[in-house]
Amino acid sequence: MAVSFLNLGRLNGEIRPALDAAYQRVMASGWYITGPEVEAFEAEFARHSGVAHCVGVGNGLDALVLLLRAYGIGPGDEVLVPSNTFIATWLAVSQCGATPVPVEPDPATHNIDPARAEAAVTPRTRAIMPVHLYGQTADMDPLMQLAKRRNLVVIEDAAQSQGAEYKGRRAGGLGHAAGTSFYPGKNLGALGDAGAVLTNDAAIADKVRTLRNYGSKVKYEHLEAGYNSRLDELQAAFLRAKLAVLDDWNVRRRAVAKQYSEGLRGLPLQLPAVPEWAVPVWHLYVVATPQRDALRRFLEERGIGTVIHYPKPPHLQDCYPAYKDHDLPLATRLAGEVVSLPISPDMTQAEVAEVIAAVRAFFGGAQR
Ligand SMILES: Cc1ncc(COP(=O)(O)O)c(C=O)c1O
Repeated sequence: MAVSFLNLGRLNGEIRPALDAAYQRVMASGWYITGPEVEAFEAEFARHSGVAHCVGVGNGLDALVLLLRAYGIGPGDEVLVPSNTFIATWLAVSQCGATPVPVEPDPATHNIDPARAEAAVTPRTRAIMPVHLYGQTADMDPLMQLAKRRNLVVIEDAAQSQGAEYKGRRAGGLGHAAGTSFYPGKNLGALGDAGAVLTNDAAIADKVRTLRNYGSKVKYEHLEAGYNSRLDELQAAFLRAKLAVLDDWNVRRRAVAKQYSEGLRGLPLQLPAVPEWAVPVWHLYVVATPQRDALRRFLEERGIGTVIHYPKPPHLQDCYPAYKDHDLPLATRLAGEVVSLPISPDMTQAEVAEVIAAVRAFFGGAQR
């Protein structure tokens, strides 16, 4: 049986009537940019995340850029970012004219290591941007304590973690503010590009609201040189339909992850580590082995799709030549060893079993 890495058509097909109704509603309304659907979604997602304010924007990268701008972070400022993240986390900092300062991860969870973050703080540091990688939150308490001691802002990159919990609180409400992405493959995915800012800080929310709309509060009056980065009505309407099933879909992701973790035990393969305080939402199920490339080929020959998140860390990308000699051995090693197995709420137990059997076969049928 072939198992694709992700089949979004099949997944979204589960709620096709609700998505069709969302389209019909918006089409008939004649109102397509920042209207009642966006307002309703913002209220619903703020409530879901446990924060006072949600501001819908064009995508996840913009959410982070607008937040950094709202906090006045720019040239001369340093922002701590994970060394092993999707490029957007770094790009947000660069686009504001500030300097990304990479911090290596905890090798077990792959999330930013608070002790290494502390060691990276300089007098220029203004903010920390932890990423809740793969759908599991970073260890936020020590980061918030560090921020308090050093007067830093903590902006969560919550692109991969809609619904994830840390000590009973949801991702997006753990720092001073958060940026999230509704890219189609995310746990809460739109049918196009979309993103949002979350915060309890009314002034920051207001600033982002202005920045996303040409720096304008009143039509044709421009307070700042802003952006055009608005969540549109159609995506907001789709997202309302998706939000209604997010918790259920996250529960189903957990069942897939549990089946993997039990079925893959005992192999020479690093499985995801889940600290006792974490309730992950399994955006990705990432395993690691020095035999990664051979394992991927083996799975591919059996029709099983995998993806590498991420094959080249930001510091080795051509767009960051100044970082290429930075010594970031953990990010570099992980890029060579990680592989994401298929995970999605609509995966059947038989599909997960197929992947498990293939991985076990690769390792020579190693016994549990
Ligand atoms: C960790 C992380 N940060 C930021 C982003 C950027 O989101 P977007 O693609 O919506 O701009 C993504 C996803 O693409 C991501 O995975």
